[in-house]
Amino acid sequence: MVRFVALLIVLGFVCCSCSVSNGGKLGGRTEITDVKTNKEVQDLGKYSVDQYSLQHQGELGGTGNLNFVEVVEAQMQVVSGMKYYLKVNATQNGASKMFDAVVVVKPWDQSKELVQFSPYAN
Ligand SMILES: *[C@@H]1O[C@H](CO)[C@@H](O)[C@H](O)[C@H]1NC(C)=O
Repeated sequence: MVRFVALLIVLGFVCCSCSVSNGGKLGGRTEITDVKTNKEVQDLGKYSVDQYSLQHQGELGGTGNLNFVEVVEAQMQVVSGMKYYLKVNATQNGASKMFDAVVVVKPWDQSKELVQFSPYAN
């Protein structure tokens, strides 16, 4: 039974990468259209701001923390896991700022990692 489930999971991943490569863009990014109502994407946006704040405590000028507002745009890419490219609205000292965040999620061990967080480049 365990083996059967494992096989299904493997088939699922193979199938995923097929449909991505069939689009002619191997590992291409897919736009997520329901960003504002997509709880997982919003949670990942909050996670990215929280992680960044944790990693940069004391470097933000000390006068105010970065506060998550919302994710306004998101794309995802199938890699070894899912890579989410988020455009995040956050406020710092009351001023609204946009950031580019990249989070990799590995569903099989429920891990996620912030791999990039930088001011949004227009
Ligand atoms: C970001 O959020 C702030 C506060 O809600 C809002 O005033 C601002 O218009 C938002 N910016 C964008 C680009 O969505």
